[in-house]
Amino acid sequence: MRYLAGPYPGLLGGTEETTSGRMRLRPLAARLGVPVLVINDSPIKQFAENRHAVGQSVLESYLRITNRMTNGRQVAVFGYGACGKGVAANFRNACASVAVVEIDPVTRLEASLDGFAVPGREEALRTADVVITVTGAEAVITGEDLGLLKDGAVLLNAGHFPREIAVDELASAPAVVQRHEAADGIETFRLDDGRSFHLLTRGHMANLAGPRPLGNSIESMDLGFALQARCLEAVAAGSLGGGHAVVPVPKFIDELVATSFLDLCGRSGTTASAGMAPGSTAPGSTAPGARGQRPARRRRGRPTGPVDSRTTRALGSTTLRGTRPVRMYVPSRAAASVPSRVANRFTVLRAGAVSSE
Ligand SMILES: NC(=O)c1ccc[n+]([C@@H]2O[C@H](COP(=O)([O-])OP(=O)(O)OC[C@H]3O[C@@H](n4cnc5c(N)ncnc54)[C@H](O)[C@@H]3O)[C@@H](O)[C@H]2O)c1
Repeated sequence: MRYLAGPYPGLLGGTEETTSGRMRLRPLAARLGVPVLVINDSPIKQFAENRHAVGQSVLESYLRITNRMTNGRQVAVFGYGACGKGVAANFRNACASVAVVEIDPVTRLEASLDGFAVPGREEALRTADVVITVTGAEAVITGEDLGLLKDGAVLLNAGHFPREIAVDELASAPAVVQRHEAADGIETFRLDDGRSFHLLTRGHMANLAGPRPLGNSIESMDLGFALQARCLEAVAAGSLGGGHAVVPVPKFIDELVATSFLDLCGRSGTTASAGMAPGSTAPGSTAPGARGQRPARRRRGRPTGPVDSRTTRALGSTTLRGTRPVRMYVPSRAAASVPSRVANRFTVLRAGAVSSE
């Protein structure tokens, strides 16, 4: 937005990591005139980071902070987006009995067909031993819910803002007669009727706050950073047109990152992209070379629409440090200029993370 107020020369474009950032940028897309790729809209970010990694790390954080068992516990997960799906699945896998509270009926149906109970919020709160919010919305749990909470309930938030559980409202409710730090990351509230409940990490994201927060797994972050780096690489190569303002990660980058990660894990089941001969294409890629075809001829002019893998072709190995070469794919139009202008400025590390030299 500052850039629109005072554009500066030489900006080639950029990336936006988050959903909230995308929501602010999208109305400005027509005026930006440079590519801006939204990492959060990549299916890889959605399932690898938001679903699997957040789900896993929220469970890990609950166990680490509380030292409580999950087996047989009633867990209510508020929100069944990508993150909520992962949280619900991980707690179910840890032998908890999981209910999903979701305001969107279609998503609620999905949760039901995924095998979760989908009670109303009041019923869920009355029966839950553990209440987890992961909605992105404010005031999902408020002071008005105090009368519903089961004695000893644990409340934790995994959504972005520490307002999903209205902590201030809970703390100042007349029914709260005592509040104390029971352990690192656990605050206990005692109510006038003798019940108590426990709030983890003061309502901040429990997997990123509290004692020794580890957050998402290294591998899932590698995937996210690899998406970032590959998108910036494509932007820096000038291979994406202004029509790419505030669009999802191009499919060929998703395919490249997915293939590279599988290769690194030795799970691709096909020839690894790393170390392949120049001119050949990545396994799993739909790039023409993968099927022995000639790369499609490109039309003249700057590309403005989404770039798919048909418009890409393999380059030689990029500059690599301490590992076997990892191949880089960019639209063929920019391919000739990339090794000198851009490729040498990137180092692809073995685990997939990329850093600029
Ligand atoms: N903890 C982490 O490490 C981490 C990582 C990534 C994202 N996040 C955050 O987690 C939150 C959820 O992310 P997401 O990608 O799953 O979002 P999403 O938009 O895909 O899903 C949110 C879901 O919550 C539902 N919802 C909204 N208000 C609700 C309410 N009052 N009660 C019940 N359901 C409600 C929506 O209908 C939607 O299905 C966001 O705030 C996001 O920023 C956290």
